[in-house]
Amino acid sequence: MRNKLLTILAWLALAISPAITGRAANEFVPGIVWKDTGGNPINAHGGGMLMHDGVYYWYGEFKTGRTYLPDCNKSWGGTRVDLTGISCYSSTNLTDWKNEGIVLAAVPGDQTNDLYPGNVLERPKVVYNAATRQFVLWMHVDSANYAAARYGVAVSDRPAGPFKYLGSFRPDAGVWPLNVTAEDKQPSATNILARDFAAGQMARDMTVFVDDDGQAYLFYSSEENPTMHVSLLTDDYRHTTGKYARIFIGRSMEAPTVFKHGGKYYLIASACTAWAPNAARSAVAENIFGPWKELGNPCTGPDAINTFHAQSTYVLPLPGQPDRFIFMADRWKQWNLPDSRYLWLPLEFSAEGKPVLPWRERWSLAASGAR
Ligand code: GAL
Repeated sequence: MRNKLLTILAWLALAISPAITGRAANEFVPGIVWKDTGGNPINAHGGGMLMHDGVYYWYGEFKTGRTYLPDCNKSWGGTRVDLTGISCYSSTNLTDWKNEGIVLAAVPGDQTNDLYPGNVLERPKVVYNAATRQFVLWMHVDSANYAAARYGVAVSDRPAGPFKYLGSFRPDAGVWPLNVTAEDKQPSATNILARDFAAGQMARDMTVFVDDDGQAYLFYSSEENPTMHVSLLTDDYRHTTGKYARIFIGRSMEAPTVFKHGGKYYLIASACTAWAPNAARSAVAENIFGPWKELGNPCTGPDAINTFHAQSTYVLPLPGQPDRFIFMADRWKQWNLPDSRYLWLPLEFSAEGKPVLPWRERWSLAASGAR
């Protein structure tokens, strides 16, 4: 009798779960309000993902409170919410997420602190360093008008934090890139690389990629955004080494995601239009420092032209499944940033080896061929 009752209860839970969450068990539904296991909307924007000891950790910008447009950002529509911190959620199946709380919190009351609520804190990415056994959190920290353009680094002994903030810097100060030309070294009004040579290069949208050999690289929009840099990190993943290259010169790419497939490096990123969506870009390289060859917009289906109203944030390789990846993106709401939504899609490869992102109303890992 008790078993029967338990079975009925389990079926009931399954039946009502779509009503509560807007989705069936183990299903991804791009664009819905995605609730955590506590029934609250997941709040982890511009996110990144780490898999550690069989658990996935999703880190993101915790966006709450009023969305407003500061005077300094009026010309380009750069709305914002005050900085609260970085959130973390954990899951073993990628669809049901437990809120692990704020792993790095804002520091109110001290205007000189990078984590002061009036500043910007975006696109957190966490990587695990096997040598130091530390989780290293990289993030874009900035002034409200995005002029500071720096990276913050924090560390923790545990994936779910709390993280200790170590400070911020601009990468690769006093070093020319691997592919520098004589012209690049000539100071001029438009040469941002040379302007920032001594102080360090501007660092905004970013991601961190760890290669098979354990070396980690930072990909970041630099030089006021038109050009991206790829920088090798130190062995402890806490700093840049000074070995870096300029890539996608003058192409104005943001929101980079990087992954490896069949021994080649792939990148999916957006164009540079603030919160407004645009057509995604993709590219491939044999060498991480380039040359990178652009492969065009990977999206297919309705609204492929604006990445299904979203912007890339991370590509998650599925462990043990070399050909399978999940593309994670943000569907920003410029005037209500906390209500921005998530869009996850299965990433496929065409017969010619190009990444493809077909639109899906709803999908599940099992139905798309996962073991
Ligand atoms: C986007 C960028 C976001 C955020 C936003 C501000 O282009 O990818 O991370 O900085 O601009 O408008």
